[in-house]
Amino acid sequence: METAPCPWRDGVLLVCINERAPGAPKPSCGRDRGAALRKLLKQRARAAGVDGLRVLEASCLDVCPARGVAVARVPGDEVAIVDPRDDSDIEAVIAWARGAPR
Ligand code: FES
Repeated sequence: METAPCPWRDGVLLVCINERAPGAPKPSCGRDRGAALRKLLKQRARAAGVDGLRVLEASCLDVCPARGVAVARVPGDEVAIVDPRDDSDIEAVIAWARGAPR
């Protein structure tokens, strides 16, 4: 095994894009909403000068909110539930990713 320096010095955000079939017993974040949120988070992170943050799509993060999209911060021990249409949620996630208190 070889290793290389990690360029993501500000960490990683994992955005759930899991979508269950209609009528499934558990809710899901949704492929479209998750992908849209990922795109927004990338744009906002760049605009905020957070260039060492990686924003990646993920499958189910085992939170499965009835509303919103689950976003995990790595490293970290919490998952945020984010409304992709709420600008204050987007800003809060960027601040959270930078380690700012919420
Ligand atoms: S479906 Fe998104 S966390 Fe489970």
